[in-house]
Amino acid sequence: MTVKLPIYMDHHATTPIDPRVLDAMMPYLTRVFGNAASRSHVFGWEAEAAVDESRRQVAEAMNASPKEIVFTSGATEGDNLAILGAARANRSKGNHVVTGATEHHAVLDSCHELEREGFEVTYLGPDRAGRIEAAQVSDAIEDRTVLVTLMLANNEIGTIHPVAEIGAVCREKGVLFHTDAVQGFGKIPFDLEAMNVDLASVSAHKLYGPKGIGALYVRARRPRVRLEPILHGGGHERGLRSGTLNVPGIVGLGKAVEISMAEREEEARRLRRLRRRLFDAIIAEVPDVSLNGPELPSIEADGSLVPGSEDRRLPGNLNLSFAGVEGEALLLGLKDIAVSSGSACTSASLQPSHVLKAIGVPDDLAHASIRFGLGRPNTAEEVDFTIGAVAATVRRLRELMPVSGA
Ligand SMILES: Cc1ncc(COP(=O)(O)O)c(C=O)c1O
Repeated sequence: MTVKLPIYMDHHATTPIDPRVLDAMMPYLTRVFGNAASRSHVFGWEAEAAVDESRRQVAEAMNASPKEIVFTSGATEGDNLAILGAARANRSKGNHVVTGATEHHAVLDSCHELEREGFEVTYLGPDRAGRIEAAQVSDAIEDRTVLVTLMLANNEIGTIHPVAEIGAVCREKGVLFHTDAVQGFGKIPFDLEAMNVDLASVSAHKLYGPKGIGALYVRARRPRVRLEPILHGGGHERGLRSGTLNVPGIVGLGKAVEISMAEREEEARRLRRLRRRLFDAIIAEVPDVSLNGPELPSIEADGSLVPGSEDRRLPGNLNLSFAGVEGEALLLGLKDIAVSSGSACTSASLQPSHVLKAIGVPDDLAHASIRFGLGRPNTAEEVDFTIGAVAATVRRLRELMPVSGA
């Protein structure tokens, strides 16, 4: 069977829109164009009904109530609103925030902004697998701590944090807990009540939905979370996010979430199988490859976890370093396959990834890393093509650039 080139294998960066999502959105891009805030006519009512339905879909998927969902332009805005909004609203209680060194820049840069405003931020270091444990969070919390922000799953190495345990610690100590759930939501279990999460950011374009739309969950009771808005205007979204609602985007988000939840477990099994196939073959064919991030779990033939085995990594994530090869050269060599490198992820900068650095990967191996992000459209044939291309490209580059001692 021939595969269609180029192959897209960068689903942590973004995902294509699922055709079912596009179908759901189309009427709202054409016929049903009303402003969801228009209360005086049917155009507005129809738009508002669609927004309500999406709010219900998103809330249900995370075990929240619809009124706790605030639509945003994506997770960057959600992270900013949660972190800046919660810290500023609680400034009188304290000026300390806890986060992790492997967070996305949307979180880290929001924390840096708080530092400029006089807050102190503790950046917890992960273990070699990229995990931050609840005990570290517990030790870092002080009387003046107002917020803990730690991601559900990492976008580079796929590490899944023990969010339920971290949430329990935060709840016990009376500190608000925000999680950037972008990469994990719709892919791994996520239950706000069971995990004691107070604020959670998600984004549609990581879930086969459209770009430029996301949601922030804001807990309404036990405790009621207060946020200072960062956008000011017409008072939409209970005053937390002014601006005319992106109705087609919101409809797309709701549909994307609904589909992801319905297919989540089966998709996780399929992706674990594809990832195992990719990893085992690369390891067998290419010498001097190292795995960045958590070990892969033991799986059954159908991709389900062997009893007693836990997947500490997003099912579609694989991050490998190829000693003696420049990641950029590898990306160029793999021109038919869209993947990303640990040195290119921070747009245009050639700094090695802060995530790989934080887990102790030396700079040369960080520069030699490739992130594979398997997703819904990928097939076994595409994985086999990728294996062959990676093996051939690494071999060729190593011949061209012999590294002393390697
Ligand atoms: C973990 C994480 N947080 C936040 C974001 C930003 O999301 P958005 O593109 O919706 O602003 C991303 C996307 O790259 C991400 O992977």
